Formats: sequence, C-alpha cells, structure tokens
Amino acid sequence: MKIGVIGLGFVGLTFASVLASKKIPVIGVDYDKSKIAKIQSGEVPFFEPRLDKTLRTALHSGLKVSSSISSVANQCDIIFVTVGTPTLEKGGIDLSMVESAIKEIGRLLKKTKNNPAIIIKSTVIPGTTQKLIAILERESKKKNGEDFGIISNPEFLREGVAIEDTINPHLIVLGGSDNKFMKRLTDFYSNLHPNVQIIKTNPQTAEIIKYANNSFLATKISFINQIATICESIPGANIEQVAKAIGLDPRIGSLFLNAGPGYGGSCLPKDVKAIINFSSKIGADSTLLDAVEEVNRNQVRNIISIIEKMLGRLKGHKITILGLAFKPDTDDIRESVSLKLIELLLREGAKIISHDPKAIENTKSVFGNKIEYTDNISKALRGSECAVIMTSWKEYTGISEKELKLMKKRFIVDTRRLLLGKKLNIKYHAIGMG
Ligand code: UDX
Repeated sequence: MKIGVIGLGFVGLTFASVLASKKIPVIGVDYDKSKIAKIQSGEVPFFEPRLDKTLRTALHSGLKVSSSISSVANQCDIIFVTVGTPTLEKGGIDLSMVESAIKEIGRLLKKTKNNPAIIIKSTVIPGTTQKLIAILERESKKKNGEDFGIISNPEFLREGVAIEDTINPHLIVLGGSDNKFMKRLTDFYSNLHPNVQIIKTNPQTAEIIKYANNSFLATKISFINQIATICESIPGANIEQVAKAIGLDPRIGSLFLNAGPGYGGSCLPKDVKAIINFSSKIGADSTLLDAVEEVNRNQVRNIISIIEKMLGRLKGHKITILGLAFKPDTDDIRESVSLKLIELLLREGAKIISHDPKAIENTKSVFGNKIEYTDNISKALRGSECAVIMTSWKEYTGISEKELKLMKKRFIVDTRRLLLGKKLNIKYHAIGMG
C-alpha cells in the first residue's frame, strides 16, 4: 500500500517519517518549497526529539517528498491530510488549507483511475468532513464511498514525545461509513498497531471526540490551577500532595494535574477557543469551557501579582524569565504563557532577560530587541531582581546557590515547583504552595 501525507508540519512530518522508517512507501507533500528542500536534505524545520534521526532513516528507506500533490492523488491508496487549521480572530478555525488541499485532490481525481481513501487528520470542527465530501464530489465528478472514501481520523500526539506517540498511540478513532475504504484504513492501522483499540464512528462524532479530548485536558489543568490558587492562601497547603492524593482516585486519574502557569501550545488553547466558538454558532451552552479559558487567562495575572507583591511597581526592575517554550523538549512558543507574561511585564516597564535551551530564535521573531536573550543560566540571573521559572526544562532543577548569588535580589517565582524542597538561601514563591 502506498501512503500520501499532505502537509509536513509537526503531525505530518512525524507521521510520514515513522511510516517510511518502517519501510512503508510514503510520499510527503508540502507547498512550502524551502521546507521540502530542508526535509530532503534530512533537516527537520523545527525541534522535536528523535525526529531528525527518524527522518534520516525514512529518507534512507525511500521516503519521497515533493511540493506537488499530483503523484499522491494519482498513486496513493491512502492519503492523509495533515495541514494546519490555525485560529481565526474570533476563535474559530481557518479551514482554507484543508479545503484547498481537498479541492486540488478532487481536480486530480477527475483525471485518474486511482480510488484513494482520503483521511482527515487535521483538527476540524464537527461537520467539516461532511462538507469536504461535497467539495470532493463536486471537483472530481466522482462519488464518495465508490470512487474514493473520506474518513475522519483525529490525531492525539503530543509535542516533545511525538515519535513515541506515533509509534504507540493510545487509541485510533475512525469516523466514516462502513465501506471498502474504511476496511482499507482499518487493515492499515491493524497491521501498524496490532494491539491498539480502534473506535469506529461517524465523521462528526470523530471530530467532536478530538475537541472533547483536548478540552477535557484543558479543564483538568484549569481545575488544578484554581485549586493551586486556593492553596496559596492556606498557610502550609501543598498542591503537589493534593494532586497526588486526588490522582489516586481512579475516577480522577493522576495525569494532567500539574499546577503551573496555565496551558499553552499549538493545540489546547486553539481547540478550547474553537469549540466555544462552534458552540455559540450552534446555540449550545459552553459555560464550563468559558470558565476553563478564564482561569487560564487569570493564571498569568496571578504570577504578575506575586512579583508585584515583592518588587512593588515593576517599572525599571530587571526580571529573568526562565523558559520560553510552552513545555520542555520543544522549541515551540505558540501560545506559550511565558510570552504572555513577558508582554505584560514589558507593558509595566520591566526589563526582561530571558533564557531557554531551544526556543530563543523563535522568541526573537516576536520580541526582537525589546528583551535580552541568553542560553546561559548564570548570565540570565546576574543582576536580576526576580527570576520566574516558566518551563520545566530539567536544566532549571539544578540551579545552584552559586548561580543564585549572582542575583541582585534572590527572589524566585517557581511556576513548576522545580526547586521545591531544595535548601537554597532565597525568597521563594511556588505556585500552589501556601
Ligand atoms: C496536546 C494534547 O496533549 C495532545 O493530545 C494533542 O494532540 C495536542 O495538544 P501538546 O500541545 O503537545 O499536546 O502539549 P501537552 O503536553 O498536552 O501540554 C499542553 C499545555 O498544558 C502545556 O502548556 C503544559 O505545560 C500544560 N500542562 C500540561 C500543565 O500545565 N499541567 C499538566 O498537568 C499538563
């Protein structure tokens, strides 16, 4: 079976590389020619652990990449669409990249005898796959379920562990009709992941599963962050122990209960916004999800209040931000709470020096010379009046007394509690610790 992957961003490039490294014939497509040139030479255009090695193995095993869809539409048995669906101004999502890929496949299908299964992996609002069927039928003058088949197949991989998640997904969701194309995709996944459960449903249920999944994760985070804020006003209360204890209740579960600066990244904020926007369009209530967003927005303001309590007015104060990426093991700064914090601190007139092991280059494109950057922790701390640990990079767990002595005021706000329990001579405020 020949596989096509359209859109070589985070999901598409990881997926194409993992499949090709298993010697499955794969053609990967992206419109961005400079990206294609990089990938062809074995270079990953962003940082993701293990992906560079997997890509090189994939190229060695025959991965083909191109900026043209035609060979995919003409030759591939299964075509995965993994293009981006970025946020629009009012919180909706921009489907133009998915629609234009589908239109182009449709025009090509009109002239070919190939009967591919077309799989929508991009995150799309409920009802989109149904609309894409109409576009494909119109453009190709052919019939869904006979000449081609469209199936919704949401993706759940996490950044930082994308290769592991692609090799060992916890679940496969397939939304489509029970026909030969569904059988083809089921056979493909059953061979690839013999022990992983496949849930089959209609496209709109598959689409809402993805949003339910991510908005539940966001809800868990906002929940624990709210409890953390309450704990901060109870002398001696400890959010780590609260999370551990409630996590042992099997009805709750221990994962995603790490209080912190709020959720960021390319998915959770976008998906919560999109489902709220979708709910309002269809006249459905979204009170809980509105609150999840509000708690997340408030969390960054809580951090500012903590700093202000210590330093007073922030104008002219030198503040160190430790961590720019939205989580460790990535250079991704999309919707990173760190960047929101910097923006607010700059507005108050603070002077910022920032540190991150991977995300400095990306952050420079946002703040330019409005802030300072360094990849050296000592330099980041020298002369600073407050350091805020934002990302749980393991580098920060080893911050030493010697490094802290370089600060003008030894005041640490630790949003991830990485220095908790260490014997350090500092003024210390950790999120969730009363
Ligand atoms: C998420 C989903 O987990 C994944 O299934 C989906 O496919 C894409 O979106 P990702 O964006 O890679 O993955 O990051 P994730 O690990 O979920 O973290 C998202 C944010 O939540 C980060 O800012 C992280 O710091 C924060 N978070 C996560 C917490 O603050 N506490 C937690 O306990 C977990």
